[in-house]
Amino acid sequence: MTSAVVDIPDQTGRVALVTGANSGLGLETTKALLKSGATVVMGCRSLQRGESARQSLLERNYPPSVDLIALDLADLESINQAAKTLKSQYGRIDLLINNAGVMATPHTLSKQGLELQFAVNHLGHMALSLALLPLLSSQPGARVVTVTSGVQYMGRIAWDDLQGEQRYDRWAAYAQSKLANVMFALELDKRARAARIDVASLLAHPGLARTNLQPASVAANQSWQEAFAYRLMDPMFQSAAMGSLPQLHAATSPTAHGGEQYGPRFNFRGYPKRCRIAASALKDAERQRLWSVSEQLLRDRGAALTAIIDD
Ligand SMILES: NC(=O)c1ccc[n+]([C@@H]2O[C@H](COP(=O)([O-])OP(=O)(O)OC[C@H]3O[C@@H](n4cnc5c(N)ncnc54)[C@H](OP(=O)(O)O)[C@@H]3O)[C@@H](O)[C@H]2O)c1
Repeated sequence: MTSAVVDIPDQTGRVALVTGANSGLGLETTKALLKSGATVVMGCRSLQRGESARQSLLERNYPPSVDLIALDLADLESINQAAKTLKSQYGRIDLLINNAGVMATPHTLSKQGLELQFAVNHLGHMALSLALLPLLSSQPGARVVTVTSGVQYMGRIAWDDLQGEQRYDRWAAYAQSKLANVMFALELDKRARAARIDVASLLAHPGLARTNLQPASVAANQSWQEAFAYRLMDPMFQSAAMGSLPQLHAATSPTAHGGEQYGPRFNFRGYPKRCRIAASALKDAERQRLWSVSEQLLRDRGAALTAIIDD
């Protein structure tokens, strides 16, 4: 097992929300932030799995400043409710780690009828970030870190079929959602700067990390070929703790800034370094288009976007 070490500045007094905190990179991020003194709110779609993860942390003597909130990113009502609860219970968020994700799922719809990967990975996190912006912007030095993937470099936005209604390829839909993460995070950073809002938006990708993401995909698709491929690729994978370092670095390092992306030094594995952003996310017009389309999709379905920043 690789031992993961990264210097995290003292986070005492800060409140972090980590989405998908009960498993994989989200759980490792929660552990590291707790050790650094932060209060961590674990945002989990299953309260049972979330509570079991929280209890296992307490049993292992992690600091007790760890709470749990119901947050299903495939349901805009759940996102609205979580934002309300966070506002009334904490009144502040210093770090939002948009970490939760699903990968290469069979064609499935979210509660509001949107393609699941686009809905959970991109739209849900956009809705959450915008609903929490007033809480974030009241905290000096607040950061939003959105977790993407190396597949961003292969992703393309299917403008005429965003929901995969005409043709659905589960891997192309994953790559689209992860490119959308990048476009959203960069556009949020740009708009926050233009509006002089003190919230930095950064990106991180973990390389290849051993988590539940791959087994969940194999199980959902009943694919022995995919299971076999992961077995062959196993030596390339790093631990979940190592995979969480880029997002921890992006969230806490004084040398990391809005609009930057961090990933493993050797693409798939290694300690974090600043890394290249997918060229297709650097086009202003495309990013603005995705923002407008996404905002419309969310508003039409009742998302409480309390703080849209105009371009
Ligand atoms: N592992 C890798 O090699 C790798 C590579 C590139 C990018 N990533 C990205 O890393 C992030 C974390 O994934 P991971 O590798 O740590 O996988 P993981 O162990 O499967 O964790 C994913 C987390 O997301 C949660 N989640 C799924 N659907 C959700 C929903 N509708 N609402 C709220 N939470 C939901 C899961 O909850 P449940 O436990 O309830 O399912 C789980 O807590 C993802 O964004 C993924 O795309 C991972």
